[in-house]
Amino acid sequence: MREIRVGLLGAGVVGSEVAHVLLERSDKLSEQVGATVALQRIVVKDASKKRPSFIPTELLSTNPDDVVSNPDVDIVVELIGGEHPPLELMTKAISNGKHVVTANKEVMAKSGYRLLSLAAQRGVDLRYEASVGAGIPILSPLQQDLAANEIASIRAIVNGTTNYILSKMAREDMDYQTALRQAQELGYAESDPTNDIEGIDAAYKLSILASLAFHTPVKPSDIFTQGISTLHPKDFTYARELGYAVKLLAIAKRHDDGIEARVHPAMVSLNSQLANVDGVFNAIQIEGDLVGPLVFFGRGAGALPTTSTVVADVLTIARNIAAGSLIRPRIELNRRIDVKPMSKVETSYYLRIAVKDQPGVLAEIARVLGDHAISISSVIQKELNADAQTAIIVIMTHPALEASMQAATAKLSSLTIMNEVSALIRVED
Ligand SMILES: NC(=O)c1ccc[n+]([C@@H]2O[C@H](COP(=O)([O-])OP(=O)(O)OC[C@H]3O[C@@H](n4cnc5c(N)ncnc54)[C@H](OP(=O)(O)O)[C@@H]3O)[C@@H](O)[C@H]2O)c1
Repeated sequence: MREIRVGLLGAGVVGSEVAHVLLERSDKLSEQVGATVALQRIVVKDASKKRPSFIPTELLSTNPDDVVSNPDVDIVVELIGGEHPPLELMTKAISNGKHVVTANKEVMAKSGYRLLSLAAQRGVDLRYEASVGAGIPILSPLQQDLAANEIASIRAIVNGTTNYILSKMAREDMDYQTALRQAQELGYAESDPTNDIEGIDAAYKLSILASLAFHTPVKPSDIFTQGISTLHPKDFTYARELGYAVKLLAIAKRHDDGIEARVHPAMVSLNSQLANVDGVFNAIQIEGDLVGPLVFFGRGAGALPTTSTVVADVLTIARNIAAGSLIRPRIELNRRIDVKPMSKVETSYYLRIAVKDQPGVLAEIARVLGDHAISISSVIQKELNADAQTAIIVIMTHPALEASMQAATAKLSSLTIMNEVSALIRVED
């Protein structure tokens, strides 16, 4: 049997499990592929680090060229993470005629188009299924099984860390800091959780999903991104009373005049599938014009689910090599559709304000919203603080332009009857 040799960059949480599966299931995988799939080399950063006993020390190296420039390596698996040096190493591997598999959302979101074009030029494959949703197959279905559809929308929960924190805040009335600390203690959040909690990680994933769905490059910088750190437990209680859950959503929609792409906390109906995605699970809801709504659900992080996907990508390439098929990555980003600025996006809103408890207040608020073409669907007085003579009011609106809502809240903040605009959360019906 022909031998297909794999070089691994990184043997951390995911890389060591990928090595484990490639070594332990070697016979079964080789049988499936019709060629021997052999792990050739494993590059790590720190040679002195203690590794699991199944990692053969003779395969270890600290020199990435032992993989990316090694003539004995056919497939490079990049599992280092972050933008640099993975971008440079993947570029070098592809330039050297090697197929590449990666789980790196940052590199694929920022430089995927360039890398895929280079791979197409060099006649090698570049697969990155694990970069979105870890164990959930979503990029392949988008490119293959749904290819006949015009995709109308994507609504997704693609960050397990924030979903875990939001689930805790909603179900246990926990405040944000406590929920974050617990997520860190359990290993769900990194010591520097900025990329997760500020929505940056979700924006990388949405950039990859939206580019494939709409066949146009959607850059992370095109995506309006807002994180979860300013959410207050009070809003989870009020949301529940109104029939909603609060989730960090990645949303992309196709309109006649462009695409909207945004990541932010959003209220979703308690009856919706997304509302019931809890903890570290992910879900990606896609609406195609032929297929209708689809939901992909599963573990969006973790060594084993990510390994499941990474090894599947390796096997797909190995199978093609064994069959002598001509391999080219799919890059169907042949449309040029503008991403609308957030100011032109239309959505409904939940607004929590603290006002002076006096006659005429509601009429004044309604006038400001009306002046900005914002129509109210309900107003509820939630609390009254008799000592401070303030009332907390929750307003739900019908769909309105983001620019109008921002202008209206600025105007509301300037009114003498207003103590503060405490929360503004978009509602995704
Ligand atoms: N963890 C998950 O649940 C998950 C889910 C989906 C996708 N991913 C993606 O999978 C990738 C890997 O994540 P991970 O959690 O396995 O990361 P990790 O645990 O931090 O492992 C990173 C590995 O890369 C090695 N490394 C770091 N810098 C290097 C350098 N300059 N040269 C050579 N090796 C270097 C490290 O070496 P040492 O061992 O010597 O430190 C380590 O083995 C990332 O792109 C991540 O976003 C992860």
